[in-house]
Amino acid sequence: MARILITSGPTRQFLDPVRYLTNASSGRMGAALAQAAIEAGHEVIVVTGPVTVVYPQAASVVSVVTTDEMLQTVLRLFPSCNGMIGAAAPCDYMPRRVHPEKIAKSGQPLALELIETPDIVATAAQSKRPDQWVVGFALETEDVRFRAIAKMEAKCCDCIVSNDASAIDAEENSVEILARDGRTLGRAAGPKIEVARVILRSLEPLIADASPPLPSPHL
Ligand code: C5P
Repeated sequence: MARILITSGPTRQFLDPVRYLTNASSGRMGAALAQAAIEAGHEVIVVTGPVTVVYPQAASVVSVVTTDEMLQTVLRLFPSCNGMIGAAAPCDYMPRRVHPEKIAKSGQPLALELIETPDIVATAAQSKRPDQWVVGFALETEDVRFRAIAKMEAKCCDCIVSNDASAIDAEENSVEILARDGRTLGRAAGPKIEVARVILRSLEPLIADASPPLPSPHL
């Protein structure tokens, strides 16, 4: 039995007090993974952006809004977890400047300067102990498998779940679970809960290899 940290849902990056950048992630894949992990006997902590999806009652849920808040929460909780699954779709960009007041319309085009946000999975994976593991997701629209493998290496993940863009805000998903040594650990298509069960089964050897008991975190 492991303690698994799951990131889920989108994040928001505010331009001013009322407007923000985000994406269509629903949190359904994260909720399905939480359910499948609980069914497999694991303890689950979900760090979620703003979503309407309901997480399983047995999961501990920590809600955040921005990518930086998600990162800080993950960095605080990950040391007490055996592994992490990054199923969130955090905003990759944030405005360089956040206006303290609502931006007024001026009748002119508005140029936004965006800078990259930190990568949560990559940051957690860089800091992981040898007894910890990190699994990322890769959502690609072309060269799906090749780019997923490149992403797994760039982000120092132990495995990556490759899916295509039709997964976002959908009830179903179609995935391949890829390992660092190039093996395909599993494939699944269908409702997200069934896909999540296959993902958890495919990760079972990784999870079992690295599950020393750890002290409980303060949520
Ligand atoms: O680069 P891309 O967004 O496609 O990578 C997807 C993977 O990286 C997912 O596991 C996602 O949760 C994670 N990610 C992250 N922090 C970001 C962007 C993506 O953890 N800022």
